[in-house]
Amino acid sequence: MIKKINTFISGTGSFAPPRVLTNLDLEKMVDTSDEWITARTGIKERRIAEDGTAPSDLALKASKQALEEAQITPDQIDLILLGTVTPDYILPSTACILQDKLKAKNAAVLDIVAACSGFIYGLSIASAFISIGQYKNILVIGVETLSKIVNWEDRNTCVIFGDGAGAAVVSATTEDKGVLGTFLSGDGSLANLLHVPIGGAKLPLTKENIELNEHFIHMEGSDVFKSAVRTMVNATEHIIQKVGITPEDVDLLIPHQANIRIIEALAKRLKLPMNKVYVNIDRYGNTSAASVPIALDEARRKGMMKEGSISVLVAFGAGFTWGSAAIKW
Ligand code: UT7
Repeated sequence: MIKKINTFISGTGSFAPPRVLTNLDLEKMVDTSDEWITARTGIKERRIAEDGTAPSDLALKASKQALEEAQITPDQIDLILLGTVTPDYILPSTACILQDKLKAKNAAVLDIVAACSGFIYGLSIASAFISIGQYKNILVIGVETLSKIVNWEDRNTCVIFGDGAGAAVVSATTEDKGVLGTFLSGDGSLANLLHVPIGGAKLPLTKENIELNEHFIHMEGSDVFKSAVRTMVNATEHIIQKVGITPEDVDLLIPHQANIRIIEALAKRLKLPMNKVYVNIDRYGNTSAASVPIALDEARRKGMMKEGSISVLVAFGAGFTWGSAAIKW
């Protein structure tokens, strides 16, 4: 009998640039306060990449850690899937740049533009490739340097975002463990609520549109907030049902770290106690595609995933995109 091929996470890694920007630092930059940011978002500080540090540099550090833990060499990676909305370049993909830096010479390379859901999209694609037997080891990354596309004079956005990278090596196994299932979705009709208006091929950069600050992130915060809660509740309930478990079976929920109020609303709607929900937004802010894999890596290093336990990952982001994954360790 042919055994089913499962996809398990064989190693994780993460890296955040050392420079810390606190709420008190932000008080000196825009009309805001530590009190407002803490109460409205749960963020106390975030990391900022130095000028000249590329997303691929952050991704390289996180990836090396994940490979070391997975005990594989770069030439054993069959595919690199890299989620980002802040690529090194428009062309070529950041996955290509990383492949070269990592010397992963046998890897196929692909960027995923799914914003904060990028890592879960990557994990889902990786698990599909592994289950059909096409690849054995896939490196899935979420990396962002959002500090480079944020308007540091816009208090509605600049207090929220941060930089970082998280990576996971996902590998084939015939053991009864790994990714139990994934769920992906999206709604492009809401694209304008969270976007960078110019700089793509539709509206290339000009001196005039740059002066209007259109090359930075624009966000309708409270509309995005409501969609984030609704879609992440839906995605979590969907995956729980799809893989045939109950909410009580979830040992750890790892949500996208967008806002502590979104995370608390999600936990409340799912009737999950907060001690089953991983939170690190206070230290990193919203790192978009990097948020879930950084949290995943931290939780693993803290020994929070016992053998046989079940984690659910869930994210929501610009697009809109959203998705979830259930994993048995
Ligand atoms: O990564 C996935 C996508 N992103 C998200 O999921 C983010 C979702 N949205 C949010 O997290 C929240 O909407 C924000 C944190 C962005 C904003 O919080 P809010 O509670 O929705 O505030 P608001 O936008 O409704 O603004 C309330 C007030 C406004 O003042 P007025 O009009 O009531 O006088 C804002 O001007 O707060 C003001 N405000 C600020 N005040 C101090 C907005 N930003 C700031 C600030 N400091 N940084």
